Amino acid sequence: MTSDSARTQLIAQARRTIEHVEQGTIPLVDDTMTIPVSRYQDQERWAREVDIVFKRTPLMLGFSIEIPNPGDYKAMDVVGVKVIITRGVDGQVRSFVNMCSHRGAQLVDEGTGSTRRFACPYHNWNYDNEGTLVGVTNRQDFGEVDTSCLGLTPLPTAERCGLLWVVLTPGAEMDIDAHLGGYAEMLDHFDFGDRWYSLGNQQIPGPNWKLAYDGYLDFYHIPFLHRDTFGPDFSSRPIYDAWGPHQRMTAFSESLLKFKDVPDDEIDLELIDGGVWTIFPHVSIAGFPVGNRGLMVSQLFPGPTPDTSITIQNFLTDTEPDDELRELAKKTAAFYDHVVRDEDYFTGIRIGQNIETGAKSQFLFGRNEGGGQTFHRYLDQLLA
Ligand SMILES: [Fe+2]
Repeated sequence: MTSDSARTQLIAQARRTIEHVEQGTIPLVDDTMTIPVSRYQDQERWAREVDIVFKRTPLMLGFSIEIPNPGDYKAMDVVGVKVIITRGVDGQVRSFVNMCSHRGAQLVDEGTGSTRRFACPYHNWNYDNEGTLVGVTNRQDFGEVDTSCLGLTPLPTAERCGLLWVVLTPGAEMDIDAHLGGYAEMLDHFDFGDRWYSLGNQQIPGPNWKLAYDGYLDFYHIPFLHRDTFGPDFSSRPIYDAWGPHQRMTAFSESLLKFKDVPDDEIDLELIDGGVWTIFPHVSIAGFPVGNRGLMVSQLFPGPTPDTSITIQNFLTDTEPDDELRELAKKTAAFYDHVVRDEDYFTGIRIGQNIETGAKSQFLFGRNEGGGQTFHRYLDQLLA
């Protein structure tokens, strides 16, 4: 559902873009910014990012529509933490470390499924969707065990805006409202909870996660790096809006001029809510031209080493998929795999290799690259 406030903000942003297009300008931040190159792949700094940012911040790990019914679950490996997210018989979403209390085996493989019992493949101990240990194999032989203390290890979890949020540290705080702030109503505008059909996902290995994320917040490069794909039709002049660390990036685009004289209450928000929407520290929401409307939601995670990352691209459409639509989705997904893998991440991996030479001590962000500035500044604050 779109709140009045979200509607007001979307229209104000469109009107501001129209003014800028008429003037031939974009909003600029006060100054250029330099950041030390060591911020990217320095081992010690990167380990702190994983511990403080990725293991303490609520991460968007999935969509409510992926586990709609009691018993449904999704299992993932996120920065080395194996997670099960599951919906209980009470409808509530919980998540657990995917690890048996007996001797630590992984209970289920990564992926989605539905079950009322997670049975450990090692010795067949059983847990329900609330993480309670409900079955000890050959219990008459095993000896004394207090099953009430041997449930799965819970992780702080929330379901909000039709999305599934998890903090990867047991016992840590989960304050999803504080994390999202005013951005929650902007996410609510997308109706993730009930509007969309999933068209699957695909994974792409990439460079250092910040080199990848810089690209998601960057329209400056689009006509150049993507000259052979979708770049030539795009503006290289971005316009940023921020809600705390979460940002929207739109383009200096003449396409909005047609709304100049349209009264606010006659504007179809679907026509002005485009661009790239990010969720700090690791999600990008962009268009996916399949069905009446589609979205590509990319989840970016640090890989096992500072110079690697893994991205899960999730594809959604609001049109009930038939075979033809699924075929189109497959082709379009293959195109985005190519663009991100062979253009964005190919470049990012080479940047990472260049960083290792030590030839440059700092990188630059221009006044027109306020999104990258906001991201790196916020990250620094969080780590300070
Ligand atoms: Fe790009």
